[in-house]
Amino acid sequence: MDSKIRAEFKNRFGAEGVRYASSGRINLIGEHTDYNGGFVFPGAIDKVIEAEIKPNGLDKVRVYSVDIDEYVEFGLNEEDAPAQQWARYIFGVCREIIKRGGKVEGFDAVFAGNIPLGAGLSSSAALESCFAFALNDMFNDNKIDKFELARIGQSTEHNYCGVNCGIMDQFASIFGKKGNLMRLDCRSSEFEYFPFDPVGYKLVLLDSVVKHELVDSPYNKRRESCERVAAKLGIETLRDANMEMLDSIKDEISAEDYSRAKFVIGEKERVLDVCDALMRGDYETVGKRMYETHHGLSADYEVSCEELDFLNDIAKECGVTGSRIMGGGFGGCTINLVKDELYDKFIATAREKFAAKYGHEPRVYDVVISDGAHRIG
Ligand code: GLA
Repeated sequence: MDSKIRAEFKNRFGAEGVRYASSGRINLIGEHTDYNGGFVFPGAIDKVIEAEIKPNGLDKVRVYSVDIDEYVEFGLNEEDAPAQQWARYIFGVCREIIKRGGKVEGFDAVFAGNIPLGAGLSSSAALESCFAFALNDMFNDNKIDKFELARIGQSTEHNYCGVNCGIMDQFASIFGKKGNLMRLDCRSSEFEYFPFDPVGYKLVLLDSVVKHELVDSPYNKRRESCERVAAKLGIETLRDANMEMLDSIKDEISAEDYSRAKFVIGEKERVLDVCDALMRGDYETVGKRMYETHHGLSADYEVSCEELDFLNDIAKECGVTGSRIMGGGFGGCTINLVKDELYDKFIATAREKFAAKYGHEPRVYDVVISDGAHRIG
């Protein structure tokens, strides 16, 4: 990937730029809690977006995507938004920096990635974070605070891509640290690094390679449900809700909103439980909470799908310690905490059973927790 980017850049722009990378992410637990002011527990992974970039002295951006094999040019004013979705991520980052009083001038860029698309590993956040980090370095003397870089990516999703996401993905992509997960309090923005080395276990992702069509923005709809319940309770976010409060308004909200909020309230507690369990080295409890999260995401939050429920069932049948759908949902991966001695059998069984039912094997990714956004050279 690296040599391809360099050759393309040289070939197209006749010079050499500076290279930057930012990562995809996993999340051990804490799903759909970020936009509810709750906790998340992500880490960056060794799958990245890498870009080579150089100021071009013009008032426009010229960028080539190696993977899509497409070249786009756009200006830096609001009306210059490109039509291509992938280019809107970059345009959005430029605009959000400018809106915050930062500087962005014309530049040339070539980028590529090895984060599987649609797998729930946040390739879009990695793209945003890579450019936010790079443009901060290149044009702003790194004066924009790192958390603000994550917010720039998040605002890009809100204002240029139509997804009202939380902060988790961009945060993980920017702040990721090799060998560490991070527990982020999405209300206060405080976070802690947690060295993660579960001796005797492996973390593995099984990618269903399914991406269901998201008509009607179901992600945004989930968020709206949560906000409606919070408003009804007279609180800012569901972070401040408990089951007693929720039950007291049960008759005044829809059954659907009730289920959504029930999941979020439970999930908030599960993240804290998992942190305690990790500190004790109690992986059985970690795994139990993961299964509970899966159940909640499937039955109450309704962001799972048949294929992911099937993968979760296989994990359970094989005696895997913990397994759950990961990320926004509606396709993508399960994340599995597996004892070393069970690993081979589990993977073989999952491949065989999934292929027999769906006609293709799931993809298998071993998780390597890595650094987030950085300059390569
Ligand atoms: C997507 C969003 C995140 C988060 C997760 C669900 O990845 O981008 O902000 O809400 O879904 O936990």
